[in-house]
Amino acid sequence: MGVEIVTVPVLLLSTLLILSPSCFSLPLCTDSTSPITRNTTLAFCGYSGSTCCNATDDSAIQAQFSAMNIADSSCASKCNPYSGELYTVDDAPRTTPILCSNMTDGFCASTWDTCKNVAITNNPFATTSAPTKLSDLYHSEADFCMSAGGPVTDQTVCLNGNSASFPPTTSASPEGICIEKLDNATFFSMVPHPDGSNRVFLLTLAGKIFLAEVPNNGMGTLKYNASQPFLDLTDRVNVDFEFGLQGITFHPNFTNNGRFYVSYNCDSKTTPNCLGKCSCNPETGCDPSVIGVIDGVEPCQYQEVVAEYTVNGTSSSPVTATVASRIEVRRIFTMGLPYTTQHAGEVFFGPEDGYLYLMLGDGGNETNGDPWNFSQKKKSLLGKSLRLDINHFPTPADIINLGLFGNYTIPSDNPFINNSNSRPEIWALGFRNPWRCNYDSDRPSYLFCGETGQDHANTSTTFEKVSLVTKAGNYGWRVYDGFDLYNPTYTPGGSTPPSSINPIFPILGYYHYETHSNTGLAAIVAGFVYRAKTDPCLFGRFVYLDAYGFDMWTAAEIPYMSGNFTTQRVDFTCSKQSPIPCDFVDSTTIPKLSFVFSISQDNNEDLFLTAQTGVYRIVRSVHCGYKCNRDSENR
Ligand SMILES: *[C@@H]1O[C@H](CO)[C@@H](O)[C@H](O)[C@H]1NC(C)=O
Ligand SMILES: *[C@@H]1O[C@H](CO)[C@@H](O)[C@H](O)[C@H]1NC(C)=O
Ligand SMILES: *[C@@H]1O[C@H](CO)[C@@H](O)[C@H](O)[C@H]1NC(C)=O
Ligand SMILES: *[C@@H]1O[C@H](CO)[C@@H](O)[C@H](O)[C@H]1NC(C)=O
Ligand SMILES: *[C@@H]1O[C@H](CO)[C@@H](O)[C@H](O)[C@H]1NC(C)=O
Ligand SMILES: *[C@@H]1O[C@H](CO)[C@@H](O)[C@H](O)[C@H]1NC(C)=O
Ligand SMILES: *[C@@H]1O[C@H](CO)[C@@H](O)[C@H](O)[C@H]1NC(C)=O
Ligand SMILES: *[C@@H]1O[C@H](CO)[C@@H](O)[C@H](O)[C@H]1NC(C)=O
Ligand SMILES: *[C@@H]1O[C@H](CO)[C@@H](O)[C@H](O)[C@H]1NC(C)=O
Ligand SMILES: *[C@@H]1O[C@H](CO)[C@@H](O)[C@H](O)[C@H]1NC(C)=O
Ligand SMILES: *[C@@H]1O[C@H](CO)[C@@H](O)[C@H](O)[C@H]1NC(C)=O
Ligand SMILES: *[C@@H]1O[C@H](CO)[C@@H](O)[C@H](O)[C@H]1NC(C)=O
Repeated sequence: MGVEIVTVPVLLLSTLLILSPSCFSLPLCTDSTSPITRNTTLAFCGYSGSTCCNATDDSAIQAQFSAMNIADSSCASKCNPYSGELYTVDDAPRTTPILCSNMTDGFCASTWDTCKNVAITNNPFATTSAPTKLSDLYHSEADFCMSAGGPVTDQTVCLNGNSASFPPTTSASPEGICIEKLDNATFFSMVPHPDGSNRVFLLTLAGKIFLAEVPNNGMGTLKYNASQPFLDLTDRVNVDFEFGLQGITFHPNFTNNGRFYVSYNCDSKTTPNCLGKCSCNPETGCDPSVIGVIDGVEPCQYQEVVAEYTVNGTSSSPVTATVASRIEVRRIFTMGLPYTTQHAGEVFFGPEDGYLYLMLGDGGNETNGDPWNFSQKKKSLLGKSLRLDINHFPTPADIINLGLFGNYTIPSDNPFINNSNSRPEIWALGFRNPWRCNYDSDRPSYLFCGETGQDHANTSTTFEKVSLVTKAGNYGWRVYDGFDLYNPTYTPGGSTPPSSINPIFPILGYYHYETHSNTGLAAIVAGFVYRAKTDPCLFGRFVYLDAYGFDMWTAAEIPYMSGNFTTQRVDFTCSKQSPIPCDFVDSTTIPKLSFVFSISQDNNEDLFLTAQTGVYRIVRSVHCGYKCNRDSENR
């Protein structure tokens, strides 16, 4: 009973604080789902727009509002930009709302300022339902915010505390991006060493991983031993342009337990231990005999694998290891792929939840655009972001009963865990071929994922995009390609009616015809929010480029935390102080990158490009002669 008495007023004040036309809480509600755009205007909250609340919630709030008797409108119309559900954290009800942020310009402080002397009936902070002022209950803003806001550094509330901070504003438009060349070799991607040092791992698509030292700015080239890889998996990786070693990620406790995970493709016809459940099966409504043999390749001949490896036994501690054991510790995931393209395969750990995320593309047959409707079917893992617990293992019986694809368990808060029409591994859906996904290192609730668009004869509708990926989000493919409806011509697996889904549209992107390459070809390489101290004129901007190496952009989020991104194409060139001089595209100042595979970040949060012609780092823009009035070297 007591619960009901407190729950009602808490819902009331907290929701009052949320819903106002002047704010929207993109990208996340506190339950980690994305706010959605409602068709109908909410009767009480009085606006249509992105919201964490529905019409049922809305009328409940309306009924409760009058009970509060708030006369002062400045108190009653407050909006919390950080949270959609202040009265629960991780599904646990709270007796008082979480106000987030104790800072003077924060939400808690401004709630205190405008509401402290207003009498509120059923005040959620009071133990009585009689009209009570906040100033009757707390002596000061500090008292109130310590109780209602929690310390700013508390990582368990308020979008894990991150949105409660107010970082410096995004920099003004940069004049250009300056890069330097640090190596001549072709790498597919790069990840920082988990020990926080200046070391990085460089991956080749063919299956080699090198451990390299990154020089300080102006101090030379990448240092690594090209004849001694950290790990060589070329004997088990199947490589062509689409297949290969797709990623590496380190256990959050790697420095103690030495565990890390690789994602790669293998050929079940030639490689031992390369055979998992086929993604084309009756459960997913796909018939391998309809696919047939295409160019000598059978359905599910090629597989996606995630496997655990270790540095144990090669060194006295994981941090000092320079080589890994070639013996696989444990197979985490094996799944057969229907066609030979668009399987993605990036793996990474959630910075806050410690779970393993695996990104999977729609599985290909790209001229026909996901003919089996995999990306929208929740019984298929293709076109999905998966979230797996790799610290707890299933029993052999669980693997069979749950139809798992390997040695992992399902986190209890995965969104579709209780839905018998869905695979429980799914975290988000509706992807075509995500490449790549990166968290904003200052805001772990912001997961940016780039996605390539479908190639059409008509390039005016082919959109390269970036989305903010959240729990249970549906990113629309193949009902939509970006903002445009997509009409496939070959659909043995059926289609999803547009009216049956609530897609989350991209935050930014570009059409193929907008690039300089002018060939109709384009592929986005996403992208990081620039957080390094190296170029102050890029700080806070999302940096991304096109794989054909002619076009770079930055995007600014204005206002901060709004999900509203404004993009700008930027010039780029090569520093005259580059340790290895750059080659240039004929009669231009554009460095000759050729195909760009990835943009990556090191532990200094500097950004790097791994391209066909080498490894490049973004340096101070003044080194290329661009003006940057925030750079002290410029004044
Ligand atoms: C939402 O509004 C659009 C445009 O007004 C309409 O076409 C669509 O059918 C509506 N959807 C629902 C679920 O009411
Ligand atoms: C509205 O959202 C609540 C959770 O906030 C949910 O329990 C309820 O089923 C939803 N109602 C409708 C009509 O979608
Ligand atoms: C606000 O947070 C800061 C940083 O966590 C802390 O030092 C300070 O004591 C807090 N102030 C109040 C009034 O709670
Ligand atoms: C990189 O290539 C350039 C020209 O192709 C060559 O002059 C240079 O020695 C190479 N540098 C390294 C570090 O391999
Ligand atoms: C590079 O690795 C090879 C093969 O392990 C080794 O023989 C050589 O000494 C190493 N070179 C350096 C400079 O460490
Ligand atoms: C990390 O690993 C060490 C050594 O295995 C262990 O003692 C510690 O509890 C682990 N920490 C976490 C957070 O799992
Ligand atoms: C590696 O060694 C650490 C420390 O003894 C241990 O905690 C961990 O489980 C080992 N990892 C593997 C893969 O055996
Ligand atoms: C797509 O699938 C159809 C039907 O199996 C096949 O005829 C065609 O060759 C496939 N195309 C590609 C690019 O895989
Ligand atoms: C689980 O891991 C073990 C050890 O690597 C492996 O033999 C087994 O095949 C794995 N199970 C699955 C379903 O991948
Ligand atoms: C799934 O069902 C269980 C048992 O009813 C419940 O405790 C849990 O919260 C549910 N999980 C989700 C994500 O809905
Ligand atoms: C395609 O997938 C959607 C979403 O699961 C489903 O509603 C639709 O029925 C599917 N089409 C067919 C023919 O299975
Ligand atoms: C989005 O940003 C643009 C450019 O800064 C600005 O003009 C517009 O008002 C912003 N929209 C919202 C809803 O804040």
